[in-house]
Amino acid sequence: MGEALETSKLPRHVGIVMDGNGRWAKKRHLPRVIGHQAGMKALERIIDAAKEIGIRYLSVYAFSTENWRRPSSEVQGLMGLFRYYLKGKMEQMHRRNARVRFAGRMNVFPEDILKIVAEAEEKTKDNDGIDVIFCTNYGGRQEILDAVEKLLASGFNGTVTEELLRGGMYVPDVPDPDLLIRTGGELRMSNFWLWEGAYSEYYFSDAFWPDFSRAELESALLSYAGRERRFGTA
Ligand code: IPE
Ligand code: IPE
Ligand code: MG
Repeated sequence: MGEALETSKLPRHVGIVMDGNGRWAKKRHLPRVIGHQAGMKALERIIDAAKEIGIRYLSVYAFSTENWRRPSSEVQGLMGLFRYYLKGKMEQMHRRNARVRFAGRMNVFPEDILKIVAEAEEKTKDNDGIDVIFCTNYGGRQEILDAVEKLLASGFNGTVTEELLRGGMYVPDVPDPDLLIRTGGELRMSNFWLWEGAYSEYYFSDAFWPDFSRAELESALLSYAGRERRFGTA
């Protein structure tokens, strides 16, 4: 690593809004789905880099609850890639000692996808190199609603606490994201980690996701290392 990055100042959990695939493709006069394909390669690179650097939890926003609003051809293309990625890459993740997890309203996905998801989660559950959390059909508002629903469904009628609600989130044992990165130049979170990101540090990159490199990840980490987090204290 170029400039010294102290291990003690590394974020434990980095979340990434992988944005800019469509514009990356457009710039090259290619269909959007080619951009998503290139985005998958970038994801592999960044998972490897994050693990090498020593990031313990990496969450990636792959598909939002609002992304269904896209043309069905694009949605279908994304589902195809998701299936391909799941079928081809889960074994590789296991070999790399990565624990694979999914966060989102998963029940909308077809049976064959759910089966691979469940198998991958089960097979990798004891891996401790890095946790990679794929946020698929994820929405922060929906996650909070789902947590409330779970609480109500359990018959609970006491005082609702933060701890109780947190327990109903999709990956409650994963620490809150310390650093949230968004690529693609937009300055918003688009419904990512609303509850968990309450005190996250933000980092925005103009790079389109397929171009996002290890060097840019390191720039984000360096920026994070120089910040003072106060959590409301003086
Ligand atoms: C992010 O890239 C990937 C998904 C939302 C699935 P986009 O497809 O949003 O790319 P842009 O923002 O249109 O460039
Ligand atoms: C956010 O990107 C969702 C993902 C990267 C999966 P979008 O491209 O969907 O966000 P908006 O529409 O620009 O807010
Ligand atoms: Mg976008």
